[in-house]
Amino acid sequence: MTLTKEVLQTSLSPRSIQFHRQTDSTNDLAMRWLLEGAKPGSVVIADEQLKGRGRMGRTWHTPPGVALAVSVVLHPPVDAMPHISMLGAVSIAELCEHVGAEKVGIKWPNDVRIGGLKVSGVLPEAVWEGNKLLGVVLGMGLNVRANFSGTEFEDSATSLEAELGKPLNRVDLLVHLLERVDYWANLAGSETLFNAWKIRMTTIGQQVKVAGSSGVISGLAEDVNSHGALLVRDADGVSHRVIAGDIALGGQG
Ligand code: BTN
Repeated sequence: MTLTKEVLQTSLSPRSIQFHRQTDSTNDLAMRWLLEGAKPGSVVIADEQLKGRGRMGRTWHTPPGVALAVSVVLHPPVDAMPHISMLGAVSIAELCEHVGAEKVGIKWPNDVRIGGLKVSGVLPEAVWEGNKLLGVVLGMGLNVRANFSGTEFEDSATSLEAELGKPLNRVDLLVHLLERVDYWANLAGSETLFNAWKIRMTTIGQQVKVAGSSGVISGLAEDVNSHGALLVRDADGVSHRVIAGDIALGGQG
């Protein structure tokens, strides 16, 4: 189904929404809206992003008609901040499971994958006024029917429809996704959310190379902690707590 403002407004009522057929980045619009006083749960949706942003300064492609690009305004307490990307990944993983996908997992930190191929990414961005947290924008991108064959992502990315072998309605997906986000937003900071994230974490037990802020660390991913950090033991037996980063070069998970 084509995404239109009318359909979305009806399906997502009484939530405050912005729909854009085309925009640079839904996160940018949601951060501006947050500064203007958007209520928690307000959501910006775009059919196409021209400058979608991914983690670690990467570009996130959202061609028209094939994906969900969504940014939700949240107002979590500061100490729940490390749980915001977790709640996005868990909500998307649950959505994938809800429509029948199997082998759904989360690659550290928050890539949702089906059978080892990335189907979704999460980009939370906080908005501060001095040292006061005004809110967070939780950006989520989901490949619904993007076709990666013949592209640089052929061996690493997939789409929900390709995995399920059936067409999906993006409006229904969005309704369910936002229900899950609402549910988990109320549990941000809790052990329940952490456990829902950890049981889906496929990186634990894998040999990884992680590009973190202090260079590349190689070793065994032994565990995650409640703040979302990855605990990696290197060949010398030294344990490293990796807070932000990306599993790189030959890393499994
Ligand atoms: C990643 O690198 O895995 C995170 C990708 C996050 C993409 C989403 S799409 C909606 C929102 N708007 C953006 O510009 N980025 C996020």
